[in-house]
Amino acid sequence: MNETDRGHWGSRLGFIAAAAGSAIGLGNIWRFPYITGKFGGGFFVLIYILLLIFVGYPVMNSELLLGRKTQLAAVGTFKKLAPGTPWVIVGFMGVLAGFVILSYYSVVAGWALAYMFKSGVYMAVGADHGGIFVSSITSTWGGIFWHSVFMLLCIAVVAGGVEKGIEKWSLILMPVLVVLLIILIIRSVTLPGAGAGLSFYLTPNFSNFSGAGFLAAVGQVFFTLSLGMGCMITYGSYLKKEEDIPLVARYVVISDTAIALLAGFVIFPAVFAFGLEPGAGPGLTFITLPAVFAQMGAAGHIFGFIFFTLLMIAALTSAISLLEVVTAYSIDEMKFDRKKATIVAGVLIWALGLFPTLGYSTLSHIKLIKGMDLLDSFDFFANNMLLPLGGMLTAIFIGWYWGTDKALEEANISASRKLGSNYAFLIKYVVPIAIFVVFLNSVGLLG
Ligand code: PFF
Repeated sequence: MNETDRGHWGSRLGFIAAAAGSAIGLGNIWRFPYITGKFGGGFFVLIYILLLIFVGYPVMNSELLLGRKTQLAAVGTFKKLAPGTPWVIVGFMGVLAGFVILSYYSVVAGWALAYMFKSGVYMAVGADHGGIFVSSITSTWGGIFWHSVFMLLCIAVVAGGVEKGIEKWSLILMPVLVVLLIILIIRSVTLPGAGAGLSFYLTPNFSNFSGAGFLAAVGQVFFTLSLGMGCMITYGSYLKKEEDIPLVARYVVISDTAIALLAGFVIFPAVFAFGLEPGAGPGLTFITLPAVFAQMGAAGHIFGFIFFTLLMIAALTSAISLLEVVTAYSIDEMKFDRKKATIVAGVLIWALGLFPTLGYSTLSHIKLIKGMDLLDSFDFFANNMLLPLGGMLTAIFIGWYWGTDKALEEANISASRKLGSNYAFLIKYVVPIAIFVVFLNSVGLLG
């Protein structure tokens, strides 16, 4: 297969929409507001932003330039740059992470899809949102049905190819996402009593911040930017040689951060305005917010519908990037054509996803890791173990094996420029050490 058959992004904007689409997902709209609330609001946000700049941004550049250099997905990249060495394992870990994350991501996205559909249908009826939602999580067939519909959507987009599938849909969906988010922010911050939510969200509260908050912030940086599993290596492999990597990486990091920060403006004012609990964890989006919508009367159905459409779009553009990691692996390494690669990957991931789907009904007795149900166990294994490890090894690979000089050359940055020397320092020391600490914590070695 020659290089042009693999596909390329059609335009800079198209790439940015796709990469930002990958980054902006459930991690921004559900996870970010919740952990921000838990770890002290404004002060946590400050630490998070510093980590985005000093850890997230260099790693984003690294992954994009590795992929662009080799024009191959993660496994092929490590094989090509370090032939005959165990480095290829880092690529395989990425494929495994893509597999595991998408299997449950699709389940959660399926809930959003179910809820979007139901709020749409019940818009006129005035049914109880919370009740409808709980029944979609715990119903065996409902869960399987919506997970299947969501996986079919992902397969359809990814099978369309890089430019005609992923890029085209990202260019349509991302502007819709921004518009929906703006409508919701306006509604939320103008609710009577919204001020309490705003001050909870924005007032720096040092007393709630702890070492655990720092670790949570590092973890969040990786998950939210889709780093540590070769996703950005894969997206980078479709970049043209003349593309300015530091510039596009900056756009992706900034748009991801902006959407996460804005999501907080939807959730906290609304939750406080109706006197509900902001620290409900997974339930914040799926139980607390439906209760908010239910209290808004008839308009609540419309806002519920808008919110879950937003969540579904955010999840879809991330999920297609997860599927693309596995698909690109089989295109590059197993020489499958794109349709076959997408369908095989999609069906296998769908099948794996049946376990977390049933983890809330038929299989609710199975606790895999630390007493967690199947979905949380999958999430823990991928996000707390595979991603940090993958991110750390990628930084070590560039910093200590392949060389930051080669990386800077690929990114067209001169090593003598400040940007170049800062990059080298961050990749060699700051990133590996920061992640190592997080990783030890995740596996429980720091208590
Ligand atoms: N960045 C996505 C989110 O914030 O929801 C999740 C994700 C997508 C993680 C793609 C990793 C990935 F490769």
